[in-house]
Amino acid sequence: MQDIFEQEMSRPTIFKDRNVLSPHYIPDHLPYRDGEITRIMKAIAPSLSQKRPNNIFVYGKTGTGKTSSTKHVLSRLGEAAQKYEAPVEQVYINCRIHNTKYQVLLKCAERLCPEESFMGHPATFLYERLLKEVAKKAVTFIVVLDEIDKTKDLDELMYSLTRSNDDLLQGHIALIGISNKIDFKEKLDPRSKSTLCQEEMVFAPYNAEQLQAILKERTVEGFKEGYVEDSAIALASAYAAQESGDARYALKLLLKAGEIADEQNKRVTDEDVKNARNAVEEDIVLELIQTLPDQQSIVLFSVATLTEEGGKYQRLGGGGNDPALFSGEVYQRYQTVCKQWHRNARSARWVREYLNELEMLGLITTELSGKGIRGQTRLIRLSFPAEKVLSAVQKRFAE
Ligand SMILES: Nc1ncnc2c1ncn2[C@@H]1O[C@H](COP(=O)(O)OP(=O)(O)OP(=O)(O)O)[C@@H](O)[C@H]1O
Ligand SMILES: [Mg+2]
Repeated sequence: MQDIFEQEMSRPTIFKDRNVLSPHYIPDHLPYRDGEITRIMKAIAPSLSQKRPNNIFVYGKTGTGKTSSTKHVLSRLGEAAQKYEAPVEQVYINCRIHNTKYQVLLKCAERLCPEESFMGHPATFLYERLLKEVAKKAVTFIVVLDEIDKTKDLDELMYSLTRSNDDLLQGHIALIGISNKIDFKEKLDPRSKSTLCQEEMVFAPYNAEQLQAILKERTVEGFKEGYVEDSAIALASAYAAQESGDARYALKLLLKAGEIADEQNKRVTDEDVKNARNAVEEDIVLELIQTLPDQQSIVLFSVATLTEEGGKYQRLGGGGNDPALFSGEVYQRYQTVCKQWHRNARSARWVREYLNELEMLGLITTELSGKGIRGQTRLIRLSFPAEKVLSAVQKRFAE
């Protein structure tokens, strides 16, 4: 048994440092973001000489380096604060995880008073404690709210944090909000908007050439020399440029292609990138399925079980191996599944609507059948392998 582990450890590999390709790794150098990094640094530099920096709102599409660039600036700020013994404190909060005003205030209070426990205290207590601490230490406290659009009571949070500066006789609180939802700003209460957006920064998507340079840098660090073909890097960059210039997607492709090639301990080629793209796409779809609302999940589940069994259309000899389904049989199966899972079944009209939504998400395709088979009816096809869809839906309901 031990041999399996030993074999794994002594197996030849094309990776030099796989960690470098992980989504959590922050490179020392971020190509094409010098301008953005400099701007954020300039904006928060006044904190070092005890002046209140403007609040900053950073936005741009997913994978454009917002989080990495901001974290980079925070670590430089931390170094400078130490060097000059400046009273600057900072906290990085991901609002996808800490998604209420209470949780954000809690994180802030915990950062400033690490030895204290705030369990069970109300928000007002946390707020007062936070102000007291900022004033006592006369610090500038930089609060980074990443994925800020995920905060449930954002207007209240904004209100508290900005009112704080009026209540403070000494010290300041400054915000950096980050979001990839372009319309997020418009949805804010006007007062929150003018508070948060004192300064704005937009991160533009990367083009294929830039993505190529980013991937090349990572390849040098992550793979043994000569194990990644240039054309494979170019192809991964081209795919990611199509996906709205997302560097995270480009890196995912590179890592996955690397894993595929690594299995055979060979160079990474275009073919591996193509296969990686399918695999990554599938991962993304499976993640998407896990966020679907109940009813849509049940409809999708019905489509997937029928597809696995082979629908009536196939049994009637329509389209050979084509596992297309009639909308009628999908509705019947949906009703059965609802009964089994103790959910209320909606009307056929609603189910048609859910099917439209699933089609818009690219999970199924539909078309009208040719005349002949029961007049004209809607044919439904699953876009991904049934067993994968089934396991993703089941996982979702197990949560
Ligand atoms: N200029 C760059 N150079 C090197 N790597 C980069 C660069 N920009 C982004 N990356 C890498 O791409 C990935 C995504 O970057 P990051 O998390 O900063 O994006 P983001 O803009 O915060 O995206 P999201 O809106 O989805 O949170 C990270 O793994 C990061 O290391
Ligand atoms: Mg981010």
